Amino acid sequence: MHMQLNLGLIGAGGIGRHLAWQLRPLSEARLAGVYDVDPALAQHAADELETTAYESLDALLDAPEIEAYILATPPHTHYELGMQVLQRGKHLFCEKPLALTVQHCDAMLDAAQQAGVQLMAGQVLRLFPLFWQSKQWLQEGVIGEPVAVNLQRRGYEINLFREGWRADPKQSGGVLLEMNVHELDYLRWLFGDYTVVAAQGSQPYPEPNFTQHWQATLQFENGVIGSVECSIIDPLGGYLVRIVGTEGALEHTGFSGAIRYKKRGAHEISLIPEEIGTPEPYMWELRSFVRAVLYGETPPFDGYDGRMAVANAHAVLQAMGRKGARRRRGQV
Ligand SMILES: NC(=O)c1ccc[n+]([C@@H]2O[C@H](COP(=O)([O-])OP(=O)(O)OC[C@H]3O[C@@H](n4cnc5c(N)ncnc54)[C@H](O)[C@@H]3O)[C@@H](O)[C@H]2O)c1
Repeated sequence: MHMQLNLGLIGAGGIGRHLAWQLRPLSEARLAGVYDVDPALAQHAADELETTAYESLDALLDAPEIEAYILATPPHTHYELGMQVLQRGKHLFCEKPLALTVQHCDAMLDAAQQAGVQLMAGQVLRLFPLFWQSKQWLQEGVIGEPVAVNLQRRGYEINLFREGWRADPKQSGGVLLEMNVHELDYLRWLFGDYTVVAAQGSQPYPEPNFTQHWQATLQFENGVIGSVECSIIDPLGGYLVRIVGTEGALEHTGFSGAIRYKKRGAHEISLIPEEIGTPEPYMWELRSFVRAVLYGETPPFDGYDGRMAVANAHAVLQAMGRKGARRRRGQV
């Protein structure tokens, strides 16, 4: 029997609409309605996606034919809106960060468990081709046992963080919770749980009022040693992950470029994203969510992974001292 899941979209902004478009190729899923606090945005999304705009959140949540929801609103709303979905006994795909505090994440996990429904957090970075391939190669043991990792994510995104809800640390959680939960989740996926040995952050510009560049030293429970550096004020930009193992080294350049490894005494092997050939990452995560709901398949990440990413973001913030952000002398 062919099963189809009706989904509702909450939040018709940038990522909400992208996710909704990615549902369309999936024969097992159908977008059955959309709600946004801005009714014009909801109507616009409903028109382009050929679905119904709901005038209230309750009406969308109570629609009997809708069993699952995509929550794509700003981070500070995830807990309250997510709980409304889960407490109705409906399935939830929640954009990252799952919530802004660990307590709220735990309450969402409890609610999902009590209702017996799926809760998935959008830790999609794992599904981008070079990130995905790095995990496959590590599992195949191409560089032996992993010894050390260094990850750098740099870009000039400060202006994005000076606008709207992203500029307000109470709404976005700052750069650690709003963006770098991706990196913190990816590292945990590769090597398992870790503690933050030390961290420091810098806030050279008054706006946005949170860390704009940070570094941390990580100690993984499996013995791997790690360092991370992330910046939203680096115009040269670039993404780099380098992993050294007992038999070789592996490197990739994030969202574009290539992944390569070299075993001692052997030729270098490299792949570009087209050669890896994985599905569109957002389509892939939604398909996994839909199949988890319909058939009980295990998704590539879940609500607990989202919770751990939030917990690790807080561990970094705590290690840097919550005010965090050391102001540069002679403030800009
Ligand atoms: N996984 C990714 O790659 C990725 C990329 C971008 C954004 N995100 C995440 O998605 C979420 C949304 O980001 P965005 O860039 O789409 O933001 P956005 O500002 O473009 O869209 C958010 C939408 O939510 C609506 N909204 C706000 N409060 C609401 C409420 N209480 N009820 C209903 N609608 C409400 C807004 O009107 C807006 O249309 C954030 O958590 C962000 O971290 C994830």
